[in-house]
Amino acid sequence: MKKLTALFLAVLMTLALAACSSGGNAPAAPGSDTGSAPAAPEGAKEVTVGLIQLMEHPSLDEIRAAITARLEEKAAENGLSIKVNYQNGQGDTSTINTICQQFVAAKADVIVAIATPAAQGAATAAEGSGIPVVFSAVTDPVAAGLVDSIEAPGGTITGTSDAIPVEKIFALAQKLTPDVKSYGLIYNTSEDNSLSVIAQVKGYLDGQKIPYVEGAVTTSADVQTSARNLLGQCDAVFAPIDNTVASAMGVLADEAIQVKKPVYVAADSMVADGGLATVGVNYTNLGSQTADMVLKVLTGTPAGEIPVEVLRDNAVVINAETAAAIGVEIPADTVTAG
Ligand code: TRP
Repeated sequence: MKKLTALFLAVLMTLALAACSSGGNAPAAPGSDTGSAPAAPEGAKEVTVGLIQLMEHPSLDEIRAAITARLEEKAAENGLSIKVNYQNGQGDTSTINTICQQFVAAKADVIVAIATPAAQGAATAAEGSGIPVVFSAVTDPVAAGLVDSIEAPGGTITGTSDAIPVEKIFALAQKLTPDVKSYGLIYNTSEDNSLSVIAQVKGYLDGQKIPYVEGAVTTSADVQTSARNLLGQCDAVFAPIDNTVASAMGVLADEAIQVKKPVYVAADSMVADGGLATVGVNYTNLGSQTADMVLKVLTGTPAGEIPVEVLRDNAVVINAETAAAIGVEIPADTVTAG
């Protein structure tokens, strides 16, 4: 447990900087190989990982960096020489499908898919091919139709999940901004990860008799208009773990800061990008855990026999700069919930 201090802002700023520098790397051209393990020991088994990421935004980039670093670190001791073929799905379903079909045609040893829509594309493409899929950061793998059960996935698919502690986020909101009487909910209705969180949020708000207005976006270009519209009608905005909104988080944060209203979010990266606060998981840990599951699959454990790992190591993250800009005081007893 650690008190939130000015130092915490420094941590956030470091996070933001790290995100900027990783975002600055040129994305891979389709078909290019962007990484392989260093010289493998004699006799290492050569394997290929097809790595598909829905789109590039700071949190997904952080996850990918953690996955590739861990695979590289652990390859030799698992008797493997791992070649990672990374492809960016550009947030587009047909691009994702094409990439995943290419992975299957090239007989990748495993497909690793970051974020729900990428995992859904990978699962469809790999069906019947015998190629295992390990997904990463899928908020609700059952609702997304990827597995029937978290404990016993069966089939050829498993992975990691970032469960969102909805009640903890709203308890934090109540503490930071007790005067908020209504929420605007901004999300992309075609992201199953968002729909799952929004269903919980609506249940919670209905239970508390707190009114809300919904603002749907289809692409990140819609975020500004939807944000203005919601901010004009509500005291605060909540954004779930939505990739489309996350990729335009700076725009949403700027709109809210202009009218001095809070935006509560569902990921630390969205706080680093200007959102006021969240309670969420550590995505570097999530990426490392995903890589450990990939290594198990590559060394012979059937994916369906590995339970889905749901991360619950929640921590409170608050952007002190946003808080100051909109006039919200961070109570001294607000602590990270390690
Ligand atoms: N959980 C999201 C999904 O299932 C992916 C994700 C990970 C994400 N980190 C994020 C989305 C941060 C928005 C912001 O697709």
